Amino acid sequence: MQKVLAIETSCDETGIAIVSLANGSYTVLADALNSQIDIHREFGGVFPMAAKREHGQNLLPLLQICLSAVGGQTFIPSQNQIETALTHLEREVELQKLMETELQKPDSFLCTKPDIDALVVTAGPGLEPALWVGISFAKALATLWNIPVLPINHMEGHIASIMAEAVNGPLFPAFALLISGGHTEVVLMKDWGSYSVIGKTRDDAVGEAYDKAARILGLGYPGGPEISKRATAFRKDYSAQELETMCRVHNITLPRPMIQSKDLDFSFSGLKTAVLYLVRDLKIKAELTEEQINLICYEFEEAVVEVLLAKLMFAKRTHNAKTLVVAGGVIANTYIREKLEQWCIDVDMQYHKPNTHLATDNAVMIGLAGLIHLDKKYAKLFASDEKGLSNITARGGWKIDDVY
Ligand code: KG4
Ligand code: ZN
Repeated sequence: MQKVLAIETSCDETGIAIVSLANGSYTVLADALNSQIDIHREFGGVFPMAAKREHGQNLLPLLQICLSAVGGQTFIPSQNQIETALTHLEREVELQKLMETELQKPDSFLCTKPDIDALVVTAGPGLEPALWVGISFAKALATLWNIPVLPINHMEGHIASIMAEAVNGPLFPAFALLISGGHTEVVLMKDWGSYSVIGKTRDDAVGEAYDKAARILGLGYPGGPEISKRATAFRKDYSAQELETMCRVHNITLPRPMIQSKDLDFSFSGLKTAVLYLVRDLKIKAELTEEQINLICYEFEEAVVEVLLAKLMFAKRTHNAKTLVVAGGVIANTYIREKLEQWCIDVDMQYHKPNTHLATDNAVMIGLAGLIHLDKKYAKLFASDEKGLSNITARGGWKIDDVY
């Protein structure tokens, strides 16, 4: 059996999880997550320095939750071990103080070492100040517990999130459709570790377009769930035909950017700008009504789905894949999940999606990716000594095809 403790701090969720792999099956032994959404809501988006501060405050309590779920071996760290561990937190002054205080307690929970093979931590892509908190924390724990660290790519983690459920039948070759706040990519996966990006957005990511469109419409952050809630409610109340008529009456139409282009490129910034102009034009007559806002949400989601499906169809025509793996925060969207599932049935492809609670950022997916690396012997483990750990850095723009 292999076991890892995973740390995720790339954006606005702080996550710690302990995950194991035995006889081909993955088990989540502990999972603690703290969302900062309420804090960032007032900024209308993720504010990196607030994210960094929050991660620093959240990590120790989340670790305590996870450790109390799995237990471990108590030990007495040497003074040198404590000092070196704290040195790794020099750039995280507040967390360093919290850890120092915790370590001074006679029965500190940090002095119970869990039975794990490695610490795995998100090293990118993401917000570098936020990534550094998790990385520095992993280094401090590695020194304290004398355990190696494995840096993980956040987007590979999103793909690995599907492994929390048993995957039947062959997975590869697969298309991974990654749709999140920072990414819109189609990745051709020949195996774990063999990734080529065959399509991506030229500008905004899908989630980013949702968030920006929501802001234009005066809806809350994050925009994805807000827009989706309104579109879903309208789809329940009216038939597709009725909704189309209502859109026509109100002059609400949005483009399907790059739907005809003979490539796998996306462009969602045009869709957001179209929402901006549409709202501006409608507001010339009067303030937007709730009905108009809901219709724009509906039309926006239709445009997103049509573009995603058209690009997947193009990918299927030009590349060979048996399965579709979908991942990233936007796949929490029930309508998009169902539309992609139906498409897979229509074109006879296997469909793998994460459980909804693992769609947005979490540490379980990072742990799963770590276990896949260990299992396939791809793991670039960094020793818990000073020399090994100094090689791990935050990589804000780390590309998925540069993982190995
Ligand atoms: O993967 P994620 O949690 O963070 C990044 O790595 O970016 O994705 C967050 C993104 C946000 O843009 C959010 O608006 C979007 O996922 N999102 C959704 C839904 N839930 C979250 N978009 C559409 N529909 C949803 N239900
Ligand atoms: Zn993410």
